Amino acid sequence: MNLDEILNYRRAVRAYDKEKPIDTEKVKHCLELATLAPNSSNMQLWEFYHITQPELLAEVSRDCLGQKAASTAPQIVVFVVRRDWYRKHAQFVLEFERENIRRNSPKERQAKRIKDRELYYGTLMPFVYARFFGILGLFRKLLANIISIFRPMMLEVSENDMRVVAHKSCALAAQTFMIAMANEGYDTCPLEGLDSRRLKRALNLPHGAEINMVIPCGIRNGNKGIWGERCRVPFDEVYRKI
Ligand SMILES: Cc1cc2nc3c(=O)[nH]c(=O)nc-3n(C[C@H](O)[C@H](O)[C@H](O)COP(=O)(O)O)c2cc1C
Repeated sequence: MNLDEILNYRRAVRAYDKEKPIDTEKVKHCLELATLAPNSSNMQLWEFYHITQPELLAEVSRDCLGQKAASTAPQIVVFVVRRDWYRKHAQFVLEFERENIRRNSPKERQAKRIKDRELYYGTLMPFVYARFFGILGLFRKLLANIISIFRPMMLEVSENDMRVVAHKSCALAAQTFMIAMANEGYDTCPLEGLDSRRLKRALNLPHGAEINMVIPCGIRNGNKGIWGERCRVPFDEVYRKI
């Protein structure tokens, strides 16, 4: 399939063929491809739980309110947002980027570029991701609004804004995963209809982790798991050429 065909093939499949197992290694490979998704500041604040054990599959499916997509899926992937990893990842990216610049930038530009990265990942990222009961976010928001009086400035810096930032990036990874799965001839269905507290408990997730999406995986059973024709609002209603 070419990309057009893959995107047309991918549907929210809500019932899977029990007779058709899927290859765990292929699913894992699709998750590796998912990490190639663009993501905010390359912070990669995501984690993927690839569930294959029958008991845990049953528990996750209960936590997804018993939706058929989950209860018939031979494997399930849970996409989790890990804002609590911001320090660790900022440090990792900074160390990588220092060497990256040494390997790939002209000699005379290296010192300045490394200094910029140190400022970005060493100071700015820890500042924008830091949390303290919403208070730090309020302070950042106030500061950003004052700066924006004098020059263009990113305003979405509250703790809740940063939550959206992290979830957006994780959702892009989830979409990349679903496209990669479709390319293998495998089906998926993104789910947010779930009990996040119970699911977090089932996966032993710490307080700082958040469920982004649950994605049951399998192979469609003819058209049984597909709810009819695809519905999209007319393209002209959402496309503005300016
Ligand atoms: C973030 C998100 C959450 C979703 N949650 C559910 C869900 O809980 N249950 C469900 O049956 N479908 C869920 N869906 C699937 C959508 O209903 C589906 O993608 C949409 O109807 C379009 O159909 P298509 O994917 O076949 O094009 C979700 C999709 C997204 C992107």
